[in-house]
Amino acid sequence: MPSPFEVLGVDRGAGEEAIHRAYRRRVKDAHPDQGGSIEEFRLVQSSYEALLDGDREVESQSTDRTADTTLTTDVEFVDYEAVADNGWALNDPDLFEKSRAAGLHGTDYGRLTVGREDPLLETVEQCGHSWPYSCRGGACANCAVAVLEGELSQPVNHILPEDAIERGIRLSCVGRPMTDSLKLVYNVKHLPSIADLRLPPRPADRRSSD
Ligand code: FES
Repeated sequence: MPSPFEVLGVDRGAGEEAIHRAYRRRVKDAHPDQGGSIEEFRLVQSSYEALLDGDREVESQSTDRTADTTLTTDVEFVDYEAVADNGWALNDPDLFEKSRAAGLHGTDYGRLTVGREDPLLETVEQCGHSWPYSCRGGACANCAVAVLEGELSQPVNHILPEDAIERGIRLSCVGRPMTDSLKLVYNVKHLPSIADLRLPPRPADRRSSD
């Protein structure tokens, strides 16, 4: 079993910045869409988290989470493009009432149930939706969502500045629901404060991601 250092390709004395850089490089190569595998992708993620936690050994490729997997979260979502097209504001307290009443298409507004241990983006895709993404590893802002109610975890984040996090911006590819319900706006990559943090889409993904 390789050590976390070997997985990320960094020296044992590597500092946090070098570990961040190595992770950003490795997580893209390890992604199944880039010729890697789910096991490799998870190993890179768990190695990175272990090094940040100061843990020098990763005993298993499994993430070994012990939370109650029966808990679920009711997620209500609306597309930022629909919000902008209708002239609504993200901080409008009636945003979701307006979205419900507007008769938006099912891709623009809807609800779904997400397991408490499941990454949001993965579940959304399993439900047939195509939300934006690029790296799927916390290294860009293409998958950003604005959480207006509830909380989405952020175990990995190399890109969002503190002020964006304080405004409720989260990364849907790595975020897992932490509350019984969530209200969020997806596709906020177009927000001026987020746009510069995006990665360009991979050619094969242009239809469903950018
Ligand atoms: Fe890059 Fe989520 S797709 S951080």
